[in-house]
Amino acid sequence: MKFFIDTANLEQIKEAEELGILDGVTTNPSLMAKEGITGADNIINHYKQICEIVNGDVSAEVISTDFEGMIEEGEALADLHPNIVVKVPMIKEGIKAIKYFSSKGIRTNCTLVFSVGQALLAAKAGATYVSPFIGRLDDISTDGLHLIEEIRLVYDNYSYETQILAASVRHTMHIIECAKIGADVITGPLKAIEGLLKHPLTDSGLAQFLADYNKGNK
Ligand code: E4P
Repeated sequence: MKFFIDTANLEQIKEAEELGILDGVTTNPSLMAKEGITGADNIINHYKQICEIVNGDVSAEVISTDFEGMIEEGEALADLHPNIVVKVPMIKEGIKAIKYFSSKGIRTNCTLVFSVGQALLAAKAGATYVSPFIGRLDDISTDGLHLIEEIRLVYDNYSYETQILAASVRHTMHIIECAKIGADVITGPLKAIEGLLKHPLTDSGLAQFLADYNKGNK
């Protein structure tokens, strides 16, 4: 299972990279804006900085919603660095663009996916990754993890190579449940990833071991 961090915050990306378990980064225009990164030049420069930190896939999102615009933007993004994966929205023009990018060997992440039908189209178009947003489904009282299960079933039925990138992961249990279902990748905040480390018996056990070691060394 791959771990991506879902942020444009360089400090958090560095921290996750230093853990040694990071496989990539996802960003979106909202995450960029949250870090105060606005304007095409600054955003491009930020992608380059992220690619210098992480030895893995970095999703960079197109802003255009028409085919020609997406192609122009996506090709420019892909030229920035070999780590870049072009993030394309799940709309009609987006499917055409994904098909085009896949024929050119440009890797894609089909974003804003909320149904099995959308995931099926993304796979048929040749997307490298499909991003179902599980947290946003949970937000509207719909089971996001169930969508991951359904996409896993459909992709396995036809041996689609598109990787299921569980996005909008909000907490640690999302990661654990995604692993049980067989999502290929999760992307979430550093806090959710670090939550995997925690167990009170680890903390109390370590405290006891250290206390006992120190007794013997007095
Ligand atoms: C995915 O690539 C998106 O950046 C992201 O996971 C959205 O998450 P959110 O619903 O927490 O904004």
